Amino acid sequence: MFKLLGILWNSFRMAVQELRVNKLRTFLSLFGITIGIFCIIGCSKNDSITVIPTTPTAGTTTAITTIDAYAAIKLAFGSNIDLTNLENYANQDKPAYILKNNLGNNAITDKTATLGRVLFYDKNLSINNTISCASCHKQNFAFGDTALVSAGVEGGLTIRHSMRLINTRFANEAKFFWNERAANLNIQTTMPIEDHLEMGFSGENGDLSFDDLIVKLENIPYYPVLFSNAFGTETITEDRIQQVLAQFVRSIQSFDSKYDEGRMLVANNNQPFPNFSALENLGKNLFTQPPVFNNTGMRINGGVGCAGCHQAPEFDVDPNSLNNGVIGTIGLLGTDLTNTRAPSLRDLVKQNENA
Ligand code: HEC
Ligand code: HEC
Repeated sequence: MFKLLGILWNSFRMAVQELRVNKLRTFLSLFGITIGIFCIIGCSKNDSITVIPTTPTAGTTTAITTIDAYAAIKLAFGSNIDLTNLENYANQDKPAYILKNNLGNNAITDKTATLGRVLFYDKNLSINNTISCASCHKQNFAFGDTALVSAGVEGGLTIRHSMRLINTRFANEAKFFWNERAANLNIQTTMPIEDHLEMGFSGENGDLSFDDLIVKLENIPYYPVLFSNAFGTETITEDRIQQVLAQFVRSIQSFDSKYDEGRMLVANNNQPFPNFSALENLGKNLFTQPPVFNNTGMRINGGVGCAGCHQAPEFDVDPNSLNNGVIGTIGLLGTDLTNTRAPSLRDLVKQNENA
């Protein structure tokens, strides 16, 4: 519009100049042309575009193709994943007495946790397609391993025991691994992928790197669909992989133990549980009560104070529990004094049952 006024103004100025030399005809024609252009451009603004319909030739048929955006998912997972009706990860029930919440700023949604679950079980996350997170974190053993140490890619063995991944969300402790070397769960999740012993995308000594993994995932048909479903765009980044794996891990929860059945029936943890035997209630007291010592340092009463570090009712480990005094060994490397984190004590035994 400003341009048009400029043209008008210019032609008016020209016309005025020309008027001075009495070329009125030139002025009128120039003015007329300019007004004309103004009209054409101005009017065309509100004009709708007329599309002339083409009449189909008799005898031809028009094929209607329906593009199924989720075809790659159906092909890979059949009816196990229905993107239009996802499993509930975000709003699972938990008992009212469970108060801790270690979500950080990574809230769980069903879309993102679904992608996390697919990644967790996908052997494509290892350099030779043999190992997934679930190879060492076995669902029917509370997402831990029965072996003392676990086998990674090309026969490499982990240095420590694979931890159960139960109730990581319901803890005060935000650091991960036995020695807490992962500052948070997001950071932890891609460490096994980049570990040369575990999944192998280390980028060292000729191994493929994490960037190579991203390219690999981009070329697996279901990942662009899943990333797009989770984040709105197909882009695959390490940050996104961390977010969704952490969400899936945090969605693994377990509150159906005999302890929970009892805890639900009483007002607080110190009361005897009606569903416990006398010995079980005694064990509970020993676990939860701090010891009472005499002046020579002998325990004369109270409990044994396990709950000082393994806090009930979540049974998560206190972030300040430090070394528990039980000295283990790291593989063949020698004495390990650095173990300061325990998984929740839930599902420690009979992991594959409901008890
Ligand atoms: C080759 C076996 C192996 C694979 C594969 C593996 N892990 Fe682990 N995981 C372990 C071991 C062993 C530990 C304990 C290591 C340590 O503390 O030094 C562990 C620890 C963890 C922890 C810490 C739990 C806690 O309470 O501190 C998380 C979380 C975890 N793994 C998630 C994953 C995810 C996610 C994947 C897949 C991306 C994965 N793991 C792949 C063996 C494995
Ligand atoms: C000073 C803190 C502290 C106290 C007190 C304590 N623990 Fe622990 N516990 C830990 C730490 C830290 C770990 C993990 C490191 C390790 O296993 O060496 C652990 C590990 C464990 C494990 C192994 C968990 C697993 O997943 O492998 C069990 C079981 C356990 N404790 C039970 C107990 C019981 C029962 C008591 C009381 C008699 C107790 N703890 C007292 C800190 C403590």
